[in-house]
Amino acid sequence: MTFSFRALLWLFSAACVYAAPGVFHPGEAWPDDRGRHIQAHGGGIIRVGDTYYWFGEDRGQDNPRELRHVGCYSSTNLAQWTYRNQVLKLANPEGFGRGWVLERPKVFYNAKTKKYVMYMHIDGALPGDGHGYKFARVGVAVCDTIDGNYQYLKSFRPLDHESRDIGQFVDDDGTAYLIFEDRPFGFRIARLSDDYLTVEKEICFIPEHMEGGAIVHYDGLYYLLGSKLTGWSANPNKYATAKSLSGPWSEFQDVAPPETNTYGSQSTMLLKITGTKTTSVIFMGDIWKPHTQWDSRYLWMPLEIGGGKMTLPKPREWTLDVATGEAKISP
Ligand code: DGJ
Repeated sequence: MTFSFRALLWLFSAACVYAAPGVFHPGEAWPDDRGRHIQAHGGGIIRVGDTYYWFGEDRGQDNPRELRHVGCYSSTNLAQWTYRNQVLKLANPEGFGRGWVLERPKVFYNAKTKKYVMYMHIDGALPGDGHGYKFARVGVAVCDTIDGNYQYLKSFRPLDHESRDIGQFVDDDGTAYLIFEDRPFGFRIARLSDDYLTVEKEICFIPEHMEGGAIVHYDGLYYLLGSKLTGWSANPNKYATAKSLSGPWSEFQDVAPPETNTYGSQSTMLLKITGTKTTSVIFMGDIWKPHTQWDSRYLWMPLEIGGGKMTLPKPREWTLDVATGEAKISP
């Protein structure tokens, strides 16, 4: 299917008033309502009413090089996305040299303050050191509306730990957590403060060298997924399970045949869709293209999950009905 034909299909389906089951093509270019490949890499999704909002790194080729950008898109079926806004256009916030990064933005909605709070990995070289990724902090930005222009507030090291890749998790009771990679020690899961503007309490430390952290609570078990530390190269992502976020966690196991390197992708989020008939859990991963980052692709697939096992099926076309929760993979 050509790029423009798929854009036409998008327009046709978007005209339907109900959320038609979405069709997913893992690894292909994913055009938004404008026919442009979605720029929401290393992203996260939140739902407001019947609408899902996808935030991620906007690595568009036309972006001014001195800024870093976060893109926001909305959808009612998770397959067809409407471009909303470049919600953050951040100028070098800490006086870094060239090559500073804003990665893996995640947005939480705080019901008490009625603010949308964005966390992001902010990094660059320390003064006098030529190497990047040494700052290892989270940045926080806020907005009164979900797709407005976010205001950058500050950066910090959560609970004084180094923090590189971050993941978000909101439990069924509404409690919000940040998952972060604290090299060289491991993975940490920590609860956000009441207003979400800081990281308040460590819930669990997992002594594994992993990043791209993601959690889902499914059928009474927490599943924690992450990748190894291999830069932009894909590796075998692994998961563990626990009855409580504070552990103990099981041994880590491969989510896909290890020789596939997670089918060339890296985890960014586990998205739970609870419908009228069933609950599906979607693996959201990035297929990074380090030399053409704007063309990095997405690998989303419904997971086989339950009883402490989680398997990423071989990528192929699939559909999702967000109303019933049913995901169907093409034979
Ligand atoms: C792996 C991380 O998961 C990505 O977000 C990015 O930081 C790359 N490393 C950079 O090499």
